[in-house]
Amino acid sequence: MEKTHALDAYYTPEIRERHARILNRPVTIDVKKLNKVFTHKGKPITVLGEVDFETYKREFMCVVGPSGCGKSTLARTIAGLETADGGQMVIAGKQVDGPGPDRGMVFQGYTLFPWMTVRKNVMFGLVEGGQDKRSAEKDALQWIDLVGLSQYAESYPHQLSGGMKQRVAIARALATQPEVLLMDEPFSALDPQNRAKMQQYLLEIWQNIDITILFITHDLDEAIYLSDRILVLDANPGRVKEVLTVPLPRPRPISMMLDDTFLATKLYLEKLVHPKVTELDFGEKLSMVQMVNVKSDVPDIF
Ligand SMILES: Nc1ncnc2c1ncn2[C@@H]1O[C@H](COP(=O)(O)OP(=O)(O)OP(=O)(O)O)[C@@H](O)[C@H]1O
Ligand SMILES: [Mg+2]
Repeated sequence: MEKTHALDAYYTPEIRERHARILNRPVTIDVKKLNKVFTHKGKPITVLGEVDFETYKREFMCVVGPSGCGKSTLARTIAGLETADGGQMVIAGKQVDGPGPDRGMVFQGYTLFPWMTVRKNVMFGLVEGGQDKRSAEKDALQWIDLVGLSQYAESYPHQLSGGMKQRVAIARALATQPEVLLMDEPFSALDPQNRAKMQQYLLEIWQNIDITILFITHDLDEAIYLSDRILVLDANPGRVKEVLTVPLPRPRPISMMLDDTFLATKLYLEKLVHPKVTELDFGEKLSMVQMVNVKSDVPDIF
């Protein structure tokens, strides 16, 4: 934790102690000087420029940053779905450079196999990993129970609500018992009420199992509510601007979102992530020619 910080007044001795304990645990994700370059119209673009950070065992870390700053690229690279162009990634003590069972993934949208039941979706990774069908089924049913969907084990994804589908996706990702769960905007397609429910579900699941979560979001409320620490990324190229310790105790009732500490943290983050609201780029403006041509009985809306 930094010596002087705008949120210093909110770091109580209990919060400081709790965070010191987290930083004393073994490192689970260790990212050093991670680089990722994409080519756009023949020109190289550095999307991640020497990203450095680490998470600790059973830590909940969120990643925020302006749109296009490289959050998804970071998650995909750590997942091994993109190849890094430089740097090092160590997961639970082992260097990685491709996908592996030590990392589970839940990404935006619904990535379940639509032709498989909930039970079969959750069993899939276990059977792929070499487990025999009978014990895979037993394990899968336990994970389905953990996300509260026992009654839907034989349902197909299209028979479930969006929130339920994401719960199955979480069960599937956790079933192979990864060290780390990577989540990229997993709840952004849900309506606000279901989203809030899913956030509480996820915290409950996280409290009950041994997992480190790296959770990408552009929603600052979500990041503050869920995280132990928040990794703030800067754009062009994406790099770490700050790692913010959230000055809130746990457990966190929803009502905590109205506390002074929560609001002060949000204001601080808001300024960090969106330093100034700028006018639209000229290129983004709508074509006035088209608008002038639209005939209307209401000549002026102001
Ligand atoms: N496969 C690709 N090929 C070329 N450029 C890419 C590719 N994937 C991402 N990019 C570029 O990398 C940059 C970062 O994209 P990324 O999706 O990681 O951002 P993000 O922070 O997740 O954005 P958002 O908040 O909108 O989800 C963008 O400029 C994007 O155009
Ligand atoms: Mg993204």
